[in-house]
Amino acid sequence: MEDKQIVVAALSPLVGEHLDEEKIAQLIEKPSNAEHGDLAFPVFQLAKAFRKAPNLIAQELVEKIDGAHFDKVEAVGPYINFFLNRKEKSNEIISQVIKEDSHYGEVDLGHGGTVVLDYSSPNIAKPMSMGHLRSTVIGNSLDLMHQKMNYKTVSVNHLGDWGTQFGKLIVAYKGWGDEATVRKDPVNELVKLYVEFHEKSEEDPSLEDQGRAAFKKLEDGDPEMTELWTWFKDESIKEFEKVYDLMGISFDHYTGESFYNDKMEDKLQILADKGISTVENGATLVYLDDEELPPALVKRSDGATLYITRDIATAYYRKETYNFVKSLYIVGNEQANHFRQLKAILKRMGNDWSDDMVHIAFGLITLEGKKLSTRKGKIVLLEAVMNEAMELALEQIEAKNPDLENKEEVARQVGVGAVIFHDLKSDRMNSFDFKLSEVVQFEGETGPYVQYTYARAKSLLEKYGKELKADEIYELTDEYAWAVIKKLAEYSDTLVAATEKYEPSMIARYVIQLAQAFNKYYGNVRLLNDDDQLAARMALVKATSIVLKDGLSLLGVEAPENM
Ligand code: ARG
Repeated sequence: MEDKQIVVAALSPLVGEHLDEEKIAQLIEKPSNAEHGDLAFPVFQLAKAFRKAPNLIAQELVEKIDGAHFDKVEAVGPYINFFLNRKEKSNEIISQVIKEDSHYGEVDLGHGGTVVLDYSSPNIAKPMSMGHLRSTVIGNSLDLMHQKMNYKTVSVNHLGDWGTQFGKLIVAYKGWGDEATVRKDPVNELVKLYVEFHEKSEEDPSLEDQGRAAFKKLEDGDPEMTELWTWFKDESIKEFEKVYDLMGISFDHYTGESFYNDKMEDKLQILADKGISTVENGATLVYLDDEELPPALVKRSDGATLYITRDIATAYYRKETYNFVKSLYIVGNEQANHFRQLKAILKRMGNDWSDDMVHIAFGLITLEGKKLSTRKGKIVLLEAVMNEAMELALEQIEAKNPDLENKEEVARQVGVGAVIFHDLKSDRMNSFDFKLSEVVQFEGETGPYVQYTYARAKSLLEKYGKELKADEIYELTDEYAWAVIKKLAEYSDTLVAATEKYEPSMIARYVIQLAQAFNKYYGNVRLLNDDDQLAARMALVKATSIVLKDGLSLLGVEAPENM
């Protein structure tokens, strides 16, 4: 039984006439100070019914309560403090974790329904930005969390691979680009060509028209244009995949904007037929005044479609193809209005499922004050960030554990894990700046700290060397063990809340707290001491290692066995 339910069951026979079970459950608190018990119930709401001072009500109830599942029940002022039966509870939790192993914490929120997650979605011929990194790590974590909560997930990389800019790039490349140079360092060279295009077009405005014409040809399937565009795209994906590979991330689909090139016309037709859009000076717009949103341009006067037009077609495609129960867009907060417009338009087109589309926004991160930007060719490549993180990790491993095998691989897990963890640790809407040297640290509230704790637990288990079966009795009652056990018991509630709020940060903070509780246990109790509680302690170590590893894995962070 869940802890709260134990208290509800104890109180309900005594106060049931005045408060129903749901209300009792709502009133139950989890005291932050362990001296006030594991759970507490304030009696204020019973004052009228009992016609007594709250402290007297608390005393009266305590005398009558059935204490079967508690070590102690106490009245303190207007509160009843409940101390759970530690023997019972510790055995229950430890056995459950060991038995369920990586399935511990699962909750059937999704009933197998499909969630589509659109994340990362960088733009080709440009380097991936910090914003795309955020989208990638948040999206990947939400993907994993939803799987754990029994959703089917479909991950889509909605590449920015369509639009007039690719016409411009083709004009630039054909005009003054060099194949060999581009082949050597594709994305950087393409960015250079694009920057030069804008410089040159200030002197020669006809370039803009040439760019538009080239894109038109591409839209119409011109073989030469298509070949160049495909090349740019393939090279870009290769570059993106270097970063994805480091992070162990893969996508079910790379269906970018170009995929919808032939899927927009009928949607524009619906907009026209239903009188949702209006044509002004040759351009097609949807006014969204009722929704207090700026009008959305869906077709330019030259016939070109836009980002939002493709997103309209995309939403239909996803509903028709996957019949999602939820469709998530993990995209920076600066696109909030875009997604409001998108949902409003779809709704007007008669699609109630647009309510199931959620824009998962996030704040901006910067690296030592610098934004990763493509302007003026000043680029901090993500890959370079990851490489530096791995080097920093390697330095620390060399210092702490010079004999470690496969140091390079562990350095990847720690360095990359540190960056991901840091990104996920604060509420996603927060903007923040970070320094790699602070992120790749084995102490403090960092990814490596949690990883290190996991490795410590694994090494204790290895020293112990015996099997720990789920059906043995493992009873622990001391304060330090109890703090760990209570944390373990909170796992599934934490996962549910994190999934419902789309907040991986709740899991990141949870694993930090679990690691902290465990390290206190480790620091204060001789865990490997050969006494009659040895097996119980090792079982708790094992349970902790299972949950630390699982929690990290839901963040997309690996857990090396040794480090
Ligand atoms: N490529 C876009 C950008 O970099 C993000 C795309 C997000 N997904 C979507 N369906 N609009 O800003």
